Amino acid sequence: MVCNNFTGGENRVLNPVYCMDIESLLNDAPAMYKVDSMDMFGALSGLPEQCKDAWKIGMDSPAPEAETISNVLVTGMGGSAIGGDLLRAYASGKMAVPVAVNRDYTLSQYADKSTLVIAVSYSGNTEETLSVYEQARKRECTIAVITTGGKLKESADKDGVPVIKIPGGLAPRAATGYLFIPALAVMQKLGLLKNVEDEIKELEDELEKIKKNITPESALEHNAAKQLAREFYGRIPVIWGAAGTTGVAAQRYKGQVNENAKAPAYWNVFPELNHNELVGFEVPRDLLEKLHIVMLKDKGDHERIKTRMEITRGIAARSVSGVTEISSSGEGLLARMYTLIYVGDYASVYLAVLYDIDPGPVKIIDYLKSELAGR
Ligand code: PA5
Repeated sequence: MVCNNFTGGENRVLNPVYCMDIESLLNDAPAMYKVDSMDMFGALSGLPEQCKDAWKIGMDSPAPEAETISNVLVTGMGGSAIGGDLLRAYASGKMAVPVAVNRDYTLSQYADKSTLVIAVSYSGNTEETLSVYEQARKRECTIAVITTGGKLKESADKDGVPVIKIPGGLAPRAATGYLFIPALAVMQKLGLLKNVEDEIKELEDELEKIKKNITPESALEHNAAKQLAREFYGRIPVIWGAAGTTGVAAQRYKGQVNENAKAPAYWNVFPELNHNELVGFEVPRDLLEKLHIVMLKDKGDHERIKTRMEITRGIAARSVSGVTEISSSGEGLLARMYTLIYVGDYASVYLAVLYDIDPGPVKIIDYLKSELAGR
């Protein structure tokens, strides 16, 4: 398509698909909704409610019984695994036992009867997760399952393993509330966490609060998610968080840009990136100019990390297209992590729209799974 009638100003980038400069497109909610066949915007809008519902489902569902839990292992892939990372980050300052996340076919050797394995799969048919579930059964681990159904539910029902059944009909990555929050309920029931409901309430309120400024109806000039998509457009996002607090959000931004916008993105954490990645910002200059860095900040970041971020920003800014800082909001860690994620989730869907990409379907994942099933 050739856009003959474009009259944008000098600084505006023309989107060749829409014959519209990208800023006008980001302010045209009906145009944006048209490309979103699976209603990813709707799912995002429903996230605060989803979190509330997910807690209720978790509390109302059966939970495993165990006398001693010495460690927790969440097993899952992709959109179903990120809840494990959220749990690990959330639990590290609150729980007396460690949480590990397994994204593989194999259950770690240390897992035994005192290991609580939470097998999470939205579809219930992910082969890596089914494989670890079976190994956990054989090792007599304490198990809980979070799923909409599929083979995982069938096996768990047959084995008498408690299933937290969550609603279907969403893309897994649009169901993080359902995939993560019931695990918190399991922790609370097993006495590993307490008073989580207070943080769930705060989470819901904080998400509602920031939602007003990041939906398609909110204008670009007030909308941090749209502004971020504008920076990402035509560039490669590199997201940096801090180990233990915002790192999981950085990982999520990367995954969401990949799956929603079908575009590359990379992530890393402070302080580790100061010991390697940052050194690699000298050449090739023309490619470095195509990077846009996002630094995710949180009041819980270690003081030295805050200082590192400040110095690092100055170094990176010399060679990349730009650096955006996004700060979490809220009091509790749950709300703080999720508010960052919420902005990134919306930004990734806006980026999809800018590229004229339908954010919902992930045909490559579907293709891979079907190829694997046939072999
Ligand atoms: O977002 C996605 O669709 C993927 O990352 C899936 O979550 C991943 O392939 C695992 O599938 P499931 O969540 O059904 O176990």
